[in-house]
Amino acid sequence: MNEVIRVIKERRSVRDYISKPIPQDVLEDIVDCGRLAPTANNLQPWVFVVTTEMATKEKIAGLATYGKFIANAAACIAVFCERDNRHPVEDGSAATQNILIAAKAHGIDTCWVAGYERSYSENVRRFLGVPKKYMLISLISLGYSDKMVNRVKKPLNDVVRWEKY
Ligand SMILES: Cc1cc2nc3c(=O)[nH]c(=O)nc-3n(C[C@H](O)[C@H](O)[C@H](O)COP(=O)(O)O)c2cc1C
Repeated sequence: MNEVIRVIKERRSVRDYISKPIPQDVLEDIVDCGRLAPTANNLQPWVFVVTTEMATKEKIAGLATYGKFIANAAACIAVFCERDNRHPVEDGSAATQNILIAAKAHGIDTCWVAGYERSYSENVRRFLGVPKKYMLISLISLGYSDKMVNRVKKPLNDVVRWEKY
């Protein structure tokens, strides 16, 4: 099977990580894949805040309602997009998905943690010192894992219609 297709098909959200750091150049490559995602009018309205320090991850984990496992991840990437932009949510989501796939290709598991218009979004932004013109789109936990996750997906035939519904 083609490698990209295999990685997309095998990716699942993983929330348990072993304590092994991610090399800086690997983290950089993962974010690089995020910044190459498509954006409306090619505006690239984003900034990616990468955190690896324990105290920072613990603080973010404390803020994110369903992201407590961020504390045990090797890294967390916060995706922000300019709020007065054409399609900040779509742009930031495209980058987020690229990051999930790039991480998986590097043998690193991830979980997308909700960031857009959550009760904690502004607290995360302020804590990370991100200017107000940006809004949080997602938080991504990243780490090596020894857990196998195979979450069941709806079969293709249940969700596809050809030509018309
Ligand atoms: C927009 C969005 C928000 C999500 N927020 C959370 C979250 O706050 N906490 C969490 O543990 N998982 C979160 N997830 C992960 C989903 O629970 C997960 O993708 C879903 O259960 C499907 O599993 P899979 O990723 O293994 O395919 C989120 C996923 C998306 C796309």
